[in-house]
Amino acid sequence: MAKTNKSDFLVNQVRRYLEPGPIVLVSSRWQDKTNIMTLGWHTVLEFSPSLVGLMISTGNHSHHMIRESRECVINLPTTKLTDTVVGIGNTSGAEIDKFEEFGLTVEEASEVDAPLISFECRLHEDALVERYNFFIFEVVKAHVAPSPKHPETLHYTGDGVFMVSGKIISRRSQFRPEML
Ligand SMILES: Cc1cc2nc3c(=O)[nH]c(=O)nc-3n(C[C@H](O)[C@H](O)[C@H](O)COP(=O)(O)O)c2cc1C
Repeated sequence: MAKTNKSDFLVNQVRRYLEPGPIVLVSSRWQDKTNIMTLGWHTVLEFSPSLVGLMISTGNHSHHMIRESRECVINLPTTKLTDTVVGIGNTSGAEIDKFEEFGLTVEEASEVDAPLISFECRLHEDALVERYNFFIFEVVKAHVAPSPKHPETLHYTGDGVFMVSGKIISRRSQFRPEML
């Protein structure tokens, strides 16, 4: 790699560079109560079955609801929902009803700007929950609006700052077929 001018960087801030996945809203239901939280720490683990891992901190009310119900829905908000994303991520379902507070319907959709994409998940593996708060889910059903193909998503860089997805670059012809 080319030599560049680099300086020491705080290891607890590397998230700024490694956390590019879209911010999601994770909704849950347990004993007739619903809740929703903002989440940035997730990763895809397998194509088929469709596995994704989510880090849901034990301090969050959602952690307990999802641990009990073993289910959640991952919703993908676009930039239109930025303030809602921030609001949902700075309030707790232990204290307020966030669906009521943020004008969401129980189908996880906002009355005005519904998330375009939602994935219904079932807990696949809980071996890492106790130690790392890491839940591995199988996406059992996916609902995706046909357009836009590349929604304008939010990507958190820490410190209250988001990047927004933008330019699309294709190198499809250079990919091995099994990689597509
Ligand atoms: C941009 C953003 C990203 C967040 N990412 C995560 C995350 O990856 N994991 C997590 O446990 N909490 C994350 N949070 C914090 C929760 O959303 C927050 O603690 C929320 O109040 C939890 O709500 P609950 O107590 O109703 O579950 C994030 C918050 C924001 C604003």
